[in-house]
Amino acid sequence: MVADLEPARTVALHARPDGMAIGPLGSDAAGIAEAAAAATLPGHVDHGIWLGVDRVEYWRQLLHGEGPCGRVLAEPSRLVRAPGGAIAAAAVVTAMPATDWWQGDPWIPEIFVVAGFQGRGVGGLLLEHALGACAHSGSQRVGLTVSDGNPARRLYERFGFRAFRSTWFIARSLWE
Ligand SMILES: CC(C)(COP(=O)(O)OP(=O)(O)OC[C@H]1O[C@@H](n2cnc3c(N)ncnc32)[C@H](O)[C@@H]1OP(=O)(O)O)[C@@H](O)C(=O)NCCC(=O)NCCS
Repeated sequence: MVADLEPARTVALHARPDGMAIGPLGSDAAGIAEAAAAATLPGHVDHGIWLGVDRVEYWRQLLHGEGPCGRVLAEPSRLVRAPGGAIAAAAVVTAMPATDWWQGDPWIPEIFVVAGFQGRGVGGLLLEHALGACAHSGSQRVGLTVSDGNPARRLYERFGFRAFRSTWFIARSLWE
């Protein structure tokens, strides 16, 4: 999905989360990986895609800009800590390299809120911050990927994201 950045646009946010501290993303790959795992519990549409994945290594590469999404943009990326200091949420925004379908604008490869803190406005706060910081630095648009059936899509649409590209998983039986 892609959102064109309009600095003047206002979005009705859910209630502001109480007692949460929002700060720099940092480089704690193990801590963020553990928290991210607690965002997509069994039953979530994205739970299965992580099975067999070394999450700590995935996050290490992402935080070091070694993956396909490019280097992390420090200002729009944020980490949220719950009262007591546990990681409650994070959003990663990267400088996605240009491809034949993306013009090199910022990308959000990861945004998550630990299950117990979902639905309290934390994800909206992270998105609001990310889009605002990207607009402030002169970017025209921001993109991300969302799975079919993920309720996060409603949140993205509220922030002005629209679908612009699809990937299909296809299969056929070998016995027909
Ligand atoms: C998607 C996510 C980051 C949103 O953060 P959040 O703090 O729960 O969202 P907010 O409270 O700011 O906003 C609530 C909206 O988020 C969407 N949403 C998605 N998953 C949700 C969940 N489990 N609980 C509540 N809202 C959810 C809904 O649109 C909801 O608004 P609605 O109830 O009016 O439709 C968070 O729910 C999450 O981490 N989900 C699991 C991981 C994931 O899917 N990440 C996105 C991958 S593309």
